Amino acid sequence: MAIEIIGTGRALPARRLTNDELVAEKGIDTTDEWIRSHTGIGSRYITDDETTSGDLAFEAAKNALAMAAGFAEAGGAEREAAAFELAQTLDAIIIATAFPDYIGCPSTACIVQHKLGARKALAFDVTAGCTGFAYGLEIAAGIMGIREARKRVLLIGAETLTKITNWEDRSSCILFGDGAGAVVLEKTDAPCAGEGRRGLVNSVLFADGGGGESLLIKKGGGRNPYKAGEVVDIPPHLYMNGQEVYNFAVKAVVETVDTLMKAEGLSAEDISVIIPHQANARIVQAARKRLHIPEEKFYLNIEEYANTSAASIPIALDEMNRGGLLKKGDLLLTVGFGAGLTYGGNAIVW
Ligand code: UT7
Repeated sequence: MAIEIIGTGRALPARRLTNDELVAEKGIDTTDEWIRSHTGIGSRYITDDETTSGDLAFEAAKNALAMAAGFAEAGGAEREAAAFELAQTLDAIIIATAFPDYIGCPSTACIVQHKLGARKALAFDVTAGCTGFAYGLEIAAGIMGIREARKRVLLIGAETLTKITNWEDRSSCILFGDGAGAVVLEKTDAPCAGEGRRGLVNSVLFADGGGGESLLIKKGGGRNPYKAGEVVDIPPHLYMNGQEVYNFAVKAVVETVDTLMKAEGLSAEDISVIIPHQANARIVQAARKRLHIPEEKFYLNIEEYANTSAASIPIALDEMNRGGLLKKGDLLLTVGFGAGLTYGGNAIVW
């Protein structure tokens, strides 16, 4: 039994802002040069006030489902119908998100399940920050592995973190972008180990809850609820201790890749591509030097999308897939790290 990716999709808000445009619009005390040299970011996509993580998730899901149904190209009523038809066969919908449509309930996955008409699918959200997609893959494999009848899972990473960005904090507000990426996973008869193995081969997943305070939304949950009559001077936002997260992230990438490589007996040559969470190009560079893995093995698209949190890995996967950059038999490693603190990754044979 193998858990294979049979379709990928992504959705980005229509509005793209370059660094210069963002700086001018929000009045941030920074420059394009600083942002590029410290993060590798050149632009990001930003939602309007009405669009939620669930809306982007729904669009990304339709694109992934259409591809899985044999309609990779955009547009067309037949393609849309094929996507909805395949949605009827889904056994589960999982959404990894740090900013769901509602706090606690209902889950964003249930909202998307309803919009897709996927009545057979169980649905829930995963809260694992930017590692959510890596966690979600392993959970999806477990859901399919434990019951013979479950064959298909839709896994989505969807974020609108620019809605909870503190535009007064120049070290964090330049980092984030909105977007969603999705994959359709299918249980197949291919082997998942040995010669000719396919699909999800291994996952290593970690958490260090002791670091939770360095990346958190302080206001609005049970610890700091809103009180009647309270005046809010600043909207709820994501607080980040940049340097602490940076140091943690470099170690997290090294440990994750190293653990996966040792577990699978891999050398750098065996790896086709490593798809890291796109948080900061400098994090990836620092980690890859410690790992002694050549730069060209790492896929980076942070310049275009900035940090889309749990969506960054599936967006990159879809971009590579649609760009013809993945061939059958390629060995991919994913690496996520973020709020929790959580980190981890997956080994996938394409
Ligand atoms: O998705 C996972 C979560 N996020 C991350 O992985 C992000 C991890 N952290 C980082 O990527 C980096 O820490 C940042 C990009 C956030 C900040 O870069 P840094 O090189 O660590 O800057 P810093 O916080 O150490 O600040 C150095 C200086 C400070 O000035 P002084 O005090 O030395 O005069 C900051 O005020 O850089 C200043 N600074 C800026 N200057 C211009 C911070 N942000 C900016 C800015 N423009 N946007």
